[in-house]
Amino acid sequence: MTTSKNKVVIFLGPPGAGKGTQAERLAHEQHLVKISTGDILRDHVERGTELGQQAGPLMKAGKLVPDDLLMALIRDRLASMDSVRVIFDGFPRTTAQAQELDMLLEELGAPISAVPLLEVPDDLLISRIVERGRTSGRDDDTEAVARERQNVYREQTRPLIDYYAARGHLKTVDGVGTMDDVYSRILSTLN
Ligand code: AP5
Repeated sequence: MTTSKNKVVIFLGPPGAGKGTQAERLAHEQHLVKISTGDILRDHVERGTELGQQAGPLMKAGKLVPDDLLMALIRDRLASMDSVRVIFDGFPRTTAQAQELDMLLEELGAPISAVPLLEVPDDLLISRIVERGRTSGRDDDTEAVARERQNVYREQTRPLIDYYAARGHLKTVDGVGTMDDVYSRILSTLN
């Protein structure tokens, strides 16, 4: 694998912060592959695969899917790539996932370029999710499940802020404002 071509960006932030929205645009404009574990899992649920049957009830309750299932998905995705030019959206979400990803990326010679953290106040996050729920068809876009997802984020994913800050990768971005404004802030932290 050619190391100089590799690029790895990890979008971190609570549910509804805009990770998927911003990752999609950055991937398109910088010719990167977006790997959204939420989208991959929802596809499995829709197709009724074995993974989908395990993940579906957990997602509907706002809980995380077990680390080993996630890591198998990520390993498969990365193994199929000629160069690792990716944006992770919604992954990693636990310290165990982050540690395993570090090992995998080291094997592939693909260091992390940056970890933008999108910061948005809790109440705005809930209103964005509930608003999206009107049209998204996502089982987890109700206020009650969104609040549970926030709790899970606080307990299991927030420790990754310190994890990536300690490694010098963290770039804090104000996620409030228009999508264009937020995107400009992300670009300026990446440059
Ligand atoms: P996942 O699909 O990753 O959901 P999430 O992290 O909860 O994130 P969301 O998709 O809700 O929000 P987002 O930050 O991407 O914001 P978005 O751009 O959509 O995960 C779902 C579930 O899958 C998990 O609960 C878990 O069960 C499982 N799972 C996934 N990954 C896993 C992992 N690694 N380990 C274990 N389990 C895992 O924006 C939200 C809304 O706001 C949109 O409507 C958007 O249009 C709007 N919006 C965005 N930006 C703005 C803005 N600037 N102004 C106004 N509106 C905005």
